[in-house]
Amino acid sequence: MTALLEVKNLSKSFGGLVAVNNVSFALEAGRITALIGPNGAGKTTCFNLVAGAMRPTSGQVVFDGHPIENAPPELVCRMGIARTFQIVRPMRDMSVLENAMVGAFSWTRSVDEARSTAYESLESVGLAGKANARTDQLTLPDRKMLETAKALSTRPRLLLLDEVMAGLRPTEAAGVVRVLRKLAEGGLTILLVEHVMRIVMEVASRVVVLHHGAKIAEGRPEEVVADPMVLESYLGAGFHA
Ligand SMILES: Nc1ncnc2c1ncn2[C@@H]1O[C@H](COP(=O)(O)OP(=O)(O)O)[C@@H](O)[C@H]1O
Ligand SMILES: [Mg+2]
Repeated sequence: MTALLEVKNLSKSFGGLVAVNNVSFALEAGRITALIGPNGAGKTTCFNLVAGAMRPTSGQVVFDGHPIENAPPELVCRMGIARTFQIVRPMRDMSVLENAMVGAFSWTRSVDEARSTAYESLESVGLAGKANARTDQLTLPDRKMLETAKALSTRPRLLLLDEVMAGLRPTEAAGVVRVLRKLAEGGLTILLVEHVMRIVMEVASRVVVLHHGAKIAEGRPEEVVADPMVLESYLGAGFHA
């Protein structure tokens, strides 16, 4: 397998709290991997470490053969890693298209180039028809897809999606699943944090399970849901698929 991203023995402590504890995993290029685990398991912290938003206490993040754990977020972005945030905050006085253009300015100063890339990003998430709408006219699923389009405008090879389907109805989530599948078919590597196991089973080819900061399981979705450790620590504890 070709690993686009390798996380090696990654740890992050906040004072006495070990939020990420010696976690290792690798992401195969062009695949969708899900990062799951209960609230507080360390998923968002992992994203922050990969995206350069935080320095690890120890361990490495290797992207396309280059160590990036000490690289600033702008550089990580230029190298090809984009992320969305758990809380979506579009800029309200800008149009949908203008919001999606923001990501493109990470690699171009040309407004025309940014506009055409942003339009393509909006097309790939199904939002091109609302390019001129104001962001406060968007529904929640559209706002989530705008966040994804913004990330796509940076032209990433790896996309990190933090709970992009949270709060969506099943039919809305199914639409997002279709979008993600198409992006992966186009060669994009995706790491997504997702709570609903049914969606994980449907969209991910691999799953990494975190619990109290540590990796407790990894494998194909059907292997992971049958893992006794996962059942006990996660799926059993009020988990609903
Ligand atoms: N900036 C921070 N400062 C202190 N503690 C943090 C910080 N970010 C996260 N934590 C703590 O680290 C743990 C993991 O958090 P997080 O990565 O957000 O979990 P998840 O995304 O899996 O819900 C939690 O106990 C959280 O309170
Ligand atoms: Mg989180």
